Amino acid sequence: MLSGGGGSPANNDVTGWAEMVDGFQAEALAGRLGIPIIYGVDSVHGHGNLMGATIFPHNIGLGATGDSDLVEQIGRATAVETAATGIRWNFAPVLAIPSDLRWGRTYEAYSQDPTLVAELGSAYIRGLKGASLTEKTSVLATAKHFIGDGSTVFGSSTTSGYLLDQGVTPDDPILLEQLILPYRAAIEAGVGSVMASFSSWGDTKMHADGELLTDVLRGELGFEGFTVSDWGGVDQVDSDYYRAVVESVNAGIDLNMVPYDAAGYMWTLAKAVGSGDITEERIDGAVRRVLLPKFQLELFERPSSDPALQRLVGSPEHRTLARSAVSASAVLLKNDGVVPIDDSVSTVFLSGNAADDAGIMAGGWTINWQGRSGDIEGATTLRQAIEKRLPEAEVIYNRHGRLTGGNAGKTPDVCIAALGEEPYAEGVGDSVDLALPGAGLVDSMREFCREIVVVIVSGRPVIITDQIDSWNAVVAAWLPGSEAGGLVDVLFGDVPFSGRLPLDWPATVDDLPLGSSTNPPLFPMGHGLTSSD
Ligand code: BGC
Ligand code: BGC
Repeated sequence: MLSGGGGSPANNDVTGWAEMVDGFQAEALAGRLGIPIIYGVDSVHGHGNLMGATIFPHNIGLGATGDSDLVEQIGRATAVETAATGIRWNFAPVLAIPSDLRWGRTYEAYSQDPTLVAELGSAYIRGLKGASLTEKTSVLATAKHFIGDGSTVFGSSTTSGYLLDQGVTPDDPILLEQLILPYRAAIEAGVGSVMASFSSWGDTKMHADGELLTDVLRGELGFEGFTVSDWGGVDQVDSDYYRAVVESVNAGIDLNMVPYDAAGYMWTLAKAVGSGDITEERIDGAVRRVLLPKFQLELFERPSSDPALQRLVGSPEHRTLARSAVSASAVLLKNDGVVPIDDSVSTVFLSGNAADDAGIMAGGWTINWQGRSGDIEGATTLRQAIEKRLPEAEVIYNRHGRLTGGNAGKTPDVCIAALGEEPYAEGVGDSVDLALPGAGLVDSMREFCREIVVVIVSGRPVIITDQIDSWNAVVAAWLPGSEAGGLVDVLFGDVPFSGRLPLDWPATVDDLPLGSSTNPPLFPMGHGLTSSD
């Protein structure tokens, strides 16, 4: 059982979740076999579906920190908040290596560097697990999406309306060696499950690719956990559902994530076993692999949630951790000396769609599948964090970059424009042009601003080549989540900038996929100024 992106009980708080999941668990245990369920959720940047949870930076920002200890701590905190709701299985981390950054899931990936993805992904898996799976806050990880999800060709998606996501990756053995590195590390770190990718490897849908799902993953890499399909992923294998089920199960899918018609699936599977198209041995193997972690997590002994964990959801300790991750992930792309901003300024002008909007800072997979702009319970916006940091100063906020009313004619000491991509998830976020909405508003601020600091809130590099010369300082904040205070810490010099680009920042979309062009990027991977540069 699972909650998909944006899924929640009617009462979306920690007690509502715990009651829902514990209730399902009680039903399962009262069944004929008394086997507990393992409930799954996408806690991909904290327990994002849960109101009041700590929302950590999305993985692209964690890639910019390059800090595996920090990522392990975030895994731990995420596991605690997830376990507090009775959930012991997380559909994370994404181990993709994005290459065409127009992909709507670029932000779910740590880096274009397979070695860094391997390090951070396995640190996160260790963090979810904690000292041992038997601990009540231990959470089983899922390495996803196996394999090639970030390497699909632009325009190849087989899903209507998508461009890259759920598309086709070229059947290239050298590429495969690169993409496999993080999976090797994840398996060494004890990852419990692997999710198949919606994408195809060459001509074959990954959900039906027995060579990769079985020969490579189990044979070559020695993976002993269970594989899970993606959301309705089996259905995409063949328009004939019976054949889709037979092919996927025989290719190596152990557990089928069936969003809408579980009974239809069970009926089809039983029919396939009855006719011998799927062997009983194949079923037994899958069942054994799904049962094992239920024992390891001690779900038989301790099937329900521990109410004592509930106070840790959105706790000050976790928010402090998230705040330090936000500081560590911010990359100072350009600085002509205005950063760190002098905290004795008397007037600050703040504008942009992301300046007072926690939803834009959090991005997709937050409360809703797609995320949404607006308030997030318990979150701090950049505006709130600046007002708190500068209690004596006048902070003028105008989303559209205008000085209006009584403020007309003022000359602020410093201007900050926080510009963000509107939230998106998966292929809905596939982009043609990597545009940054609102970049034009900075021009209008020129009339009254001497110095402008631009904070880019985005899930991926955006194209700013024509604008950046007129901006005094530029910070890539990625999708920082609920603790914008971490941005204020670096902007005002309380914490030094240390983030480095986890991927190339292209000058134009024509230079994508990464590595396909001889033009230099606007900024290369590894770039990141410190405040004193
Ligand atoms: C679900 C998500 C899922 C998506 C797949 C949504 O309706 O909420 O969890 O990833 O569909 O298309
Ligand atoms: C996504 C997965 C996710 C699943 C469940 C799918 O659409 O591709 O990453 O784990 O939905 O929400």
